[in-house]
Amino acid sequence: MALRQIRIMGDEKLEKVCRPLKQVTDRDRELIQDMLDTMYDANGVGLAAPQVGVLKRIVVIDIGEGPIVMVNPEILETSGSQTGQEGCLSLPGQAGIVTRPNYVKVRALDENGEPYEFEGTELLARAVCHECDHLDGIMYVRYVEGELMDVSGEEAEEIEE
Ligand code: NI
Repeated sequence: MALRQIRIMGDEKLEKVCRPLKQVTDRDRELIQDMLDTMYDANGVGLAAPQVGVLKRIVVIDIGEGPIVMVNPEILETSGSQTGQEGCLSLPGQAGIVTRPNYVKVRALDENGEPYEFEGTELLARAVCHECDHLDGIMYVRYVEGELMDVSGEEAEEIEE
């Protein structure tokens, strides 16, 4: 298990557009495993490669239903909306209210470079949108309705993405 340092908002790596992978190499698979380890260690539900300083279009998510690895993810469809609290491992102790689609359909490559599609609703849809935004250098704070809230005393770690 290898943990990587999570970049905090203000780090320039979090503001860059990440590049797509032409193929998924052993080195990328090592990065993906480190990202999963780092996400679980931080009690997060999602992590994007730029959050560990790597400008590649790789995302990992686990909302408690098992790990999802997305390389070069593309959101094909969205529908509905949900408004709720959202946080980010790159902005610890803070949360804000964000409106997101309630449904997403995604195409991505898995860790072996195989294409697949999946659909997600509610928290999974929120996590997909949040993490894909990271790949374009976008932090959720851009979308927060009202003020950011201090949640450092709460145990609601599942909202950290
Ligand atoms: Ni985040």
